[in-house]
Amino acid sequence: MKFEKHVFICINRREGGKECCAAKGSEELAGVMKEEIKKRGLNKKIRINKAGCLDQCSKGISMVVYPEGVWYGQVTKEDIPEIIESHLIGNKPVERLRTT
Ligand code: FES
Repeated sequence: MKFEKHVFICINRREGGKECCAAKGSEELAGVMKEEIKKRGLNKKIRINKAGCLDQCSKGISMVVYPEGVWYGQVTKEDIPEIIESHLIGNKPVERLRTT
C-alpha cells in the first residue's frame, strides 16, 4: 500500500514542564485528524501517524507532511479542516502555518 500523503504529528511529552506538543493537546489533535480523514473516506490514501519529538518543540503542535516535506507549527484543532481540504486534498499547503 502506498499512501499519497503521510502526516506525522508529534505527540512527545517532555519532562519537567518543558514546552512540548503533548502539553498543547497533540494526542487529541491527532485523533481529530484521523477522524476527519476517515469521515471523508480518505483513510486508504492519507495516513496519519503519531510521531516522537520532531525537534520543533517551541513551535508545537508540530507536524510534517510527506512526500512534500512541508512542516507546520502552532497547529490547533481548528486548523485541521483547512489542512485536510487545502493541502492533503487540494495539494496547496496552508502557508500561514508553515515553518519551512
Ligand atoms: S515535543 Fe513536539 S517537536 Fe518536540
